[in-house]
Parts: sequence; structure tokens; C-alpha cells
Amino acid sequence: MEPVNLSEFEDAARAKLAREAYDYYAGGANDEVTLRRNREAYGEIALHYPVLRDVSSRDASTTVLGEKISFPVMVAPTAFHRMACAEGERAAARAAGRAGTIMVVSTLSTTTIEDIGEVATGPLWFQLYVYKDRGATTDLIRRAEAAGCRALVLTVDAQVWGRREADVRNNFKLPDGLTVANLAEHAKEMFPGGIPGSGLAAYVAQMLDPALSWRDLAWLRQQTKLPILLKGIVRADDAKLAVEHGADGIIVSNHGGRQLDTAPATIEVLPRVAEAIAGKIPVLVDGGVRRGTDVIKALARGAQAALIGRPILWGLAADGENGAFRVLELLKAEFDLAMALCGARTVGEIDRRLVVV
Ligand code: FNR
Ligand code: LAC
Repeated sequence: MEPVNLSEFEDAARAKLAREAYDYYAGGANDEVTLRRNREAYGEIALHYPVLRDVSSRDASTTVLGEKISFPVMVAPTAFHRMACAEGERAAARAAGRAGTIMVVSTLSTTTIEDIGEVATGPLWFQLYVYKDRGATTDLIRRAEAAGCRALVLTVDAQVWGRREADVRNNFKLPDGLTVANLAEHAKEMFPGGIPGSGLAAYVAQMLDPALSWRDLAWLRQQTKLPILLKGIVRADDAKLAVEHGADGIIVSNHGGRQLDTAPATIEVLPRVAEAIAGKIPVLVDGGVRRGTDVIKALARGAQAALIGRPILWGLAADGENGAFRVLELLKAEFDLAMALCGARTVGEIDRRLVVV
């Protein structure tokens, strides 16, 4: 049966995926308080709608950093798509292109950025993890640029790894035949055999730079002319620092509840962060976005667009490129309907009054 919403896509994916893969995708850190809270917080916000506006014609499109997208939802960077389906990141990129939106490609993809760039039909951004080996990091940036990526997304909430206990229990490793394709020369360090616990956590501890700090933004700025967004900001003071350090945008994110457990929901902190940014640079948000009404709430609370992480993985697992495309189309249809019921004909008409009861 064809799923009628994003949650049913998760059911379909769970039925198909290997246990270790499902647990890795679905899981959050520790007690998964933040993972749940990201969702629950959306449910607690009421939409206070106006009536009798002519909503016979509507336009859900918007622009993010100069890029027109068909509706204010983008594909968040998630690792290891080829655990979900054979075509992996290539299927996701095609789906995003068909749906008219931007895909943010993870550093930890199971397909090289070149191979993704070759098949992409829509804009790609590149999510960057900074390696202790800065040479390897700048090499990644060069390759992302050459592959046509139009922005860099620096993830700032994962210098050390949250403890996802399901991965520890499962001794999570990449399945045979899959690698962190962009850094295949480090394949051996990736998930070293025979070590108990999460192989990904071991990899991160060995490879990524826990010393990353605000000072490194100047370094990063020198490495590329691409716009740089910081992903993982949840505080107003950090939002101000992001502007001061020349960031071109931020993504309010708690990494889908996978890093610091008991962190607040992103939709809760969004208004304060957006207020601190004061329109100087774009504010995006992710975490728990599953419904068209969630996207309305994100925009009403100050985001320019939202990103979805896990639902794309569920779409890929359920039905490859078509599944991921269906996920985006379902969410777009829900968003369009919610716009109409909220009396909004354009994205610009979604304002704060909708979430003030
Ligand atoms: C992620 N996320 C993530 N973020 C990032 O910057 N680089 C990455 O490689 C990954 N990988 C990754 C894998 C998986 C399986 C998940 C679930 C998440 C975080 C991701 O970009 C995003 O912040 C969250 O997924 C958003 O929450 P939802 O939409 O999954 O609730
Ligand atoms: C994760 C990564 C890869 O959350 O960011 O698993």
C-alpha cells in the first residue's frame, strides 16, 4: 500500500531495512529525549488561521541564497544513503532535482561527490566535516566546488560524537562493499574490524577535529568563495557570533537529536535565534519536520526554509529515487494545503500572527 504520509514511509522502510541500518537512521542520542521533543514541540504549536481570503491560486516557491526552490523544504545532509538503496545518494539527488529543491550532500556519503554531481538535476550544497587532516579537508572543498556545489554547510555540533546506544549495541559498521566514498583512501580506518561499539563513533574520534572553533571560520573563508552556512546553531548568542564571523547563513539544528540529548527542540529555539539574526542572513531549520503544517510553523517562527533528514532515507529505503521523490511531493502537497487553510497565497504571507494564539 502506498504510504499517505511521511510516517507511513518510515513504516515501509522499517519493514525493508536491515536492523542495524534502520537503527542507525532512526536513532538519537541516549534516551532520545531531544529526538522526541523535536516532533512533540511542533504538535504543541497551534495554527491561528485567518479566513475568507481568496486562496484559489497559490505559489509555494521561495528563494534561498539566490536559489529558487519549489517549496520551502530542502534535503538535509545525511550519511550513508546506499544502506537504504543501491543507488543511494544518486537516487536522492535525482529525487531532489525532480521535486525542485536543493540537496545538501553529506561529507560521509557512500557515493563520491563527483558521481552525485554528474547525475544531479537540481542544486547541490556540500556539508563539510572538518578533518584533523586539513589537507584532506581542503581537498574535499575543492572537489565539492568542482562538482558544482553552490554552498558549503559546516556542521558545528558534531566535533565529538553523541552516543547513539543502538549503534553501540549493534556494533554498527558500514555493510561490506560500502565506504565513505569521498575519503576512500581512509577506508581502513573507517569502522575498523573487531572493535566493539559504534564503528562510526570510533571513526569520528580518530578523524574529525574536536579542536574546531570560531577562529577556524576565517581559515575556512580563505579556502573557498562559496557561501558558508553553519549548521547546528541553537542559541541567540551563537547566532550573533555566526554573523560577526561572516557566515552567509545558519541552520538551526540539533542534529536530529543525535548529539546532545535533552537539548531543546529546534522549533522552540528558532524564534530567539531568528530574532538575533535580524534578517541579516538566511535562517533555516531542521529536526522533526514531518508535516506541511510543521513547515508553516517553521516559517512563521522565522525560518526561510526547513530541511528534512530521515524522511528522505525512508523514501529511499521504501522505493529508491521514486520513494524519496514521493516523500518530497507528499510534503509539498501538505504544505500547499496548509497554506490554503492558513489563508496564505504566497510564502511571504506566512507570518508570525499564524503562531500567536
Ligand atoms: C544525520 N545528520 C547529519 N548532519 C550532518 O551535518 N552531516 C551528516 O553526515 C549527517 N548524517 C546524518 C545521518 C542520519 C542517519 C541522520 C538521521 C541525520 C543530521 C541531519 O542533517 C539533520 O540535522 C537531521 O536529520 C534533521 O532531523 P530529522 O529531519 O531527521 O528529524
Ligand atoms: C550522523 C552523522 C553522520 O549523525 O552526522 O550519524
